[in-house]
Amino acid sequence: MNVSLLLNGRPTTLEVRSDEMLLEALRRQGLRSVRETCAIGVCGACTVLLDGEPASACLMLAAAAAGHEVTTVEGLEGSDPVLRAFNEAHAFQCGWCTPGFVLTVKAMRPGDDVGEALGGNLCRCGCYVKIEEAVRQCVS
Ligand code: FES
Repeated sequence: MNVSLLLNGRPTTLEVRSDEMLLEALRRQGLRSVRETCAIGVCGACTVLLDGEPASACLMLAAAAAGHEVTTVEGLEGSDPVLRAFNEAHAFQCGWCTPGFVLTVKAMRPGDDVGEALGGNLCRCGCYVKIEEAVRQCVS
């Protein structure tokens, strides 16, 4: 089946299976920042923005993205302030979790509690102090 959506700002049609998850469909497009890790929606490594809100691509059928706007880290400008804050704070070690954190931070609003907002993103390298430093740069 074909699924038409706005993917990283571009009108896109994806050919997907009816049982295919958005994660798999996006990775087939070469969007490797969307990472399968837990596959049960608790680690945040597959986070994308769906109409501007964080969503777990491992839990969402690709067909459900029809008509929506999906953003991955590949769709951000290199000068994006959240990307810059993560780089400047060295808020990563292996970087596996970074795209998910960056997109979650992109969706934060002024006044959001940092711990609560990032509760769905895990960093196995334990870079939370630096991640929090980067986030505070973005939301202050
Ligand atoms: Fe390695 Fe977060 S930097 S998992």
